[in-house]
Amino acid sequence: MDPILRLDNVEKRFGGLRAVDRVSAAVREGEIVGLIGPNGSGKTTLFNVITGVYKPDGGSIAFHGERIDGLEPHEIFAKGIVRCFQNPRLFAGMTVMENVLVPPRGQVGERVTAAPFPRRWSDQEAHLAAKALQTLAAQSLRGVRGSWATEVSGGQMKLLEVSRALMGEPRLLLLDEPTAGVAPKLAREIFDGIVGLRKELGLTFVVIEHRLDVLFDYVERVLVMHQGKLIFDGPPKDAQADPNVIDSYLGE
Ligand SMILES: Nc1ncnc2c1ncn2[C@@H]1O[C@H](COP(=O)(O)OP(=O)(O)OP(=O)(O)O)[C@@H](O)[C@H]1O
Ligand SMILES: [Mg+2]
Repeated sequence: MDPILRLDNVEKRFGGLRAVDRVSAAVREGEIVGLIGPNGSGKTTLFNVITGVYKPDGGSIAFHGERIDGLEPHEIFAKGIVRCFQNPRLFAGMTVMENVLVPPRGQVGERVTAAPFPRRWSDQEAHLAAKALQTLAAQSLRGVRGSWATEVSGGQMKLLEVSRALMGEPRLLLLDEPTAGVAPKLAREIFDGIVGLRKELGLTFVVIEHRLDVLFDYVERVLVMHQGKLIFDGPPKDAQADPNVIDSYLGE
């Protein structure tokens, strides 16, 4: 079976800087993979290339075996790849609840092209509010659903962003530092939530995370980037023992 995501020699340059330097990797459906590396190693840029924010300068990207490099961001989103930003981008002037109701993907009547995969979740608009609440509850935001999105805490904003991404009915979620600025206990709750979503909905995750003590308890596999290159792909315990990874990142 095709992996859900396959990167083949993916490149992204900014002038002379190789922000993503011939990265090849595959992610299988239902995996939770960590993407780690020092600041500026190219992690966010890789997400930007996968989601179509930047077109790659070289290589190819396939989702379920189908090329997606060259597609527009909304087309990639419509296929089921959803990302969360390093710095939450929420809609000010809306409540928590309203923020979650914004982006459902492929609502009846709005869909431009037929989705390539059978819809696994219900489409009906009538169910959206209930589903949003469920999602919010799962993300422990029930108590603040009427608050202004910009007034909730940093940790709650992160949760809200994940909830919002889920409303897009993703198959693959790319999370950029979902626990940044969040208390340790909440960081583990977020990862517990990720594991729950994988189990209940079969979702696949690639998670950029600097908090390795938490990450390593939740992922089977990590990809390590350094200066745009993928320098390691394997289990966390092997990463911790890898001389290259120690030199470039863990030994910092
Ligand atoms: N739009 C851009 N224009 C020019 N250079 C960029 C752009 N975006 C990123 N870069 C550069 O590309 C490199 C990789 O940046 P990127 O943001 O992908 O790193 P990162 O691994 O996400 O880092 P961090 O852990 O700090 O978030 C850095 O040197 C960065 O300055
Ligand atoms: Mg980044």
